[in-house]
Amino acid sequence: GEPIKVALLGCGTVGTEVVRLLREQADDLTARIGAPVELVGIAVRRPHKHTDVPAELLTTDAAALVAGEADVIVEVIGGIDPARGLLTSALREGKAVVTANKALLAEHGGELFAAADASGADLYFEAAVAGAIPLLRPLRESLAGDRITRVMGIVNGTTNYILSAMDATGSGYGETLEEASRLGYAEADPTADVDGFDAAAKAAILASLSFHTRVTASDVYREGIASVTASDIAAASLLGRTVKLLAICERVLGEDGTESVSVRVHPAMIPRTHQLASVNGAFNAVYVEAEAAGQLMFYGPGAGGAPTASAVLGDLVAVARNKVLGGRGPRESAYADLPVRPMGET
Ligand code: HSE
Repeated sequence: GEPIKVALLGCGTVGTEVVRLLREQADDLTARIGAPVELVGIAVRRPHKHTDVPAELLTTDAAALVAGEADVIVEVIGGIDPARGLLTSALREGKAVVTANKALLAEHGGELFAAADASGADLYFEAAVAGAIPLLRPLRESLAGDRITRVMGIVNGTTNYILSAMDATGSGYGETLEEASRLGYAEADPTADVDGFDAAAKAAILASLSFHTRVTASDVYREGIASVTASDIAAASLLGRTVKLLAICERVLGEDGTESVSVRVHPAMIPRTHQLASVNGAFNAVYVEAEAAGQLMFYGPGAGGAPTASAVLGDLVAVARNKVLGGRGPRESAYADLPVRPMGET
């Protein structure tokens, strides 16, 4: 069939891997999709810094790239602006969007879904939560006939690496964070990770999909790991426990029978015998509980260039197939409209 034209916005750790996989898997992708994928442009801020991708594809004009010939926009810039405007206009024009942008989805997901529904465009975002782990597709599709009651787990690799290292060595928070930065496990600015913003954005996305209601990042109760000390971990250890930063999304039934959702991110002491206790380093693990399915566990690499690019490529294949076959991915209507319960209320 006709080539599926793809524009890439951003070319950092994840984007570079997306370009590599597109090139290396080209033949397989063509066979799986039923049409070749053609990368028509890559928008970056400083083209001279990107020596590992074809120079003729690079542009600094992301808006023109989005408005151009591309059928699919893949966004791996991150952050709210300029991603918000670029993706909203792409969706309005009926272009499929694949994004890894958890902050944008958690803050303005409603706006993006509305734009996608208005034009019938696809909006896929598997890479936004838990990196390579297939988690959003199961929540959106495989479990669409069930009733999800709870989603809980470790969704931030950086803080899990730090807490695992503190537990293993007895070191304090500050020195472990420095070590994590030196080894490249923590970002240059680790605030979004250690203060729980990254996990809270992911929790908002998970809760919205699971409970068919709109949960934004600011609805999520959030505590980071900066105040966890070596003696907290030692005390937990004496009790046969370890400390993990957990994201917890659950349906709550009030005494008056009304349903609400509770969404929170905070460090928790969990028994060493619990499966989440043995999730170490930069890995993620998420439990999903649904009425008919029972308890499911999703585990794997939650961050990093190649694992995140794997999820991006999976979405790209899905939207490209939809283009070839004339279908569309799941809609994200927030029909349940459940209130989010403030933390501390019982
Ligand atoms: N900084 C994030 C983490 C990357 O450590 O999990 C993936 O969102």
